[in-house]
Amino acid sequence: MPSPTILVVDDESLLRWSLRERLTTEGYRVIEAATATEALDRASGADLLLLDFKLPDVDGLSVLRKVKEQSPETLVILMTAYSTIENAIEAMKLGAYHYINKPFNLDEVVLLVEKALETIELRREVKALRVTQGADYGFDAIIGQSPAMLRIKSVLARVASSPASTVLLTGETGTGKDLAAKAIHYNSERRTRAFVNITCSALPEQLLESELFGHERGAFTDARTQKRGLFETADGGTVFLDEIGEMTPALQSKLLRFLEEKTFKRVGGLNDVRVDVRVVAATNRNLEEEVKANRFREDLFYRLQVMPIHLSPLRERKGDVQVLAAYFIERFNHEFRKRVKGLSPAAVEVLDQYQWPGNVRELRNAIERAMLLVDRDRLEPEDFTTLTRTVSPTHFRLPPEGVNLEEVERQLLTQALDRANGNQTQAAQLLGINRDQVRYRIEKFGLSTK
Ligand SMILES: Nc1ncnc2c1ncn2[C@@H]1O[C@H](COP(=O)(O)OP(=O)(O)OP(=O)(O)O)[C@@H](O)[C@H]1O
Ligand SMILES: [Mg+2]
Repeated sequence: MPSPTILVVDDESLLRWSLRERLTTEGYRVIEAATATEALDRASGADLLLLDFKLPDVDGLSVLRKVKEQSPETLVILMTAYSTIENAIEAMKLGAYHYINKPFNLDEVVLLVEKALETIELRREVKALRVTQGADYGFDAIIGQSPAMLRIKSVLARVASSPASTVLLTGETGTGKDLAAKAIHYNSERRTRAFVNITCSALPEQLLESELFGHERGAFTDARTQKRGLFETADGGTVFLDEIGEMTPALQSKLLRFLEEKTFKRVGGLNDVRVDVRVVAATNRNLEEEVKANRFREDLFYRLQVMPIHLSPLRERKGDVQVLAAYFIERFNHEFRKRVKGLSPAAVEVLDQYQWPGNVRELRNAIERAMLLVDRDRLEPEDFTTLTRTVSPTHFRLPPEGVNLEEVERQLLTQALDRANGNQTQAAQLLGINRDQVRYRIEKFGLSTK
């Protein structure tokens, strides 16, 4: 780590000189300013400010306030000749690290500076840790070469570096929404700040509210102390609201207000708290349908729709099944100390045909299960019996709005008859019923026969 830089701000040149001499001997880099204006010019290059309370142009407190606005991480120690308790309290409120009374003894200053800089060192370590943790969440961790996936990755990259404060991730279960949320955070300027994650369906409304927004002491029976919520904890970072579709209407409106105004009140609180967080919301529900059914607020839906990213189901990105399978085989080779080389062509066929209702998660689980048991160096269809047993060539998913079963039946029957060129026996085979049942349905639906 380069030696920390200390900015000494005082209009008395003698005092600046003595501080500089001593601090330089201690191994610090020292820069100086004689006025508030100079101080603000130079503050960005400093890790710590030794700031005189009384300056010729503006008072030290306003310098402190500005410095903290521009770079909240810079530490400030206030030096004051007329220490009043009010000043000290005010300084601490504005984020000063400490204050010392003039005249002071240089050893005292050095000790305080050392202690303060330890805080910086610690913060840097935490930051570095967060960044290395983030390495697992780069875009490289998102596997897939299909056009759909490449498009998604480029959108994620653009969103990450954009100032967008709200992002909505949609997609079926297991399509990678969690992964995408982390990739957005760890590839944004917010990566050195917290990424916090909460599943909206996991808590009852009141708890979720105080979890998100915090509460004041006495806000409700169990609120014995004041508590900061996740939005405060994540200031400067990202809050991932998973399963947002499950949020109750009352909380939805509180969230909307927060997204629009960037401020909120803690539960039981009167004051507005302002934070800067990016909210990434995710859902595997169709929010549009939820809006129509009056389960999701339309205004919140539109607010979230500003930056929507849809993760397509695995069955719609065919090439990716093989790429992902290869990736998981490598991973489990490592984990289980095996040397499986890959899939046999027949196994590729099985995986390609399967519809993957559980998407990438299901694929990962299928490979894991196969790898645990296999003692050959290729995976064969028989290693995927759980898939082949349930394999119906098409996997029907009931759309959220429901279906008209009669109509579906009629359409399938028509398609089967078309494909079988009107041959009722063949059509019956395609539908897994007998010829009489086909005939009965032809009559029921009044279909003409060839
Ligand atoms: N493109 C991908 N590359 C590598 N791993 C992936 C990819 N997509 C998903 N995964 C893995 O699949 C699993 C499921 O993904 P994830 O948890 O992100 O899905 P989800 O969309 O959040 O699902 P749910 O709606 O059930 O919460 C995770 O282990 C994740 O790491
Ligand atoms: Mg998830």
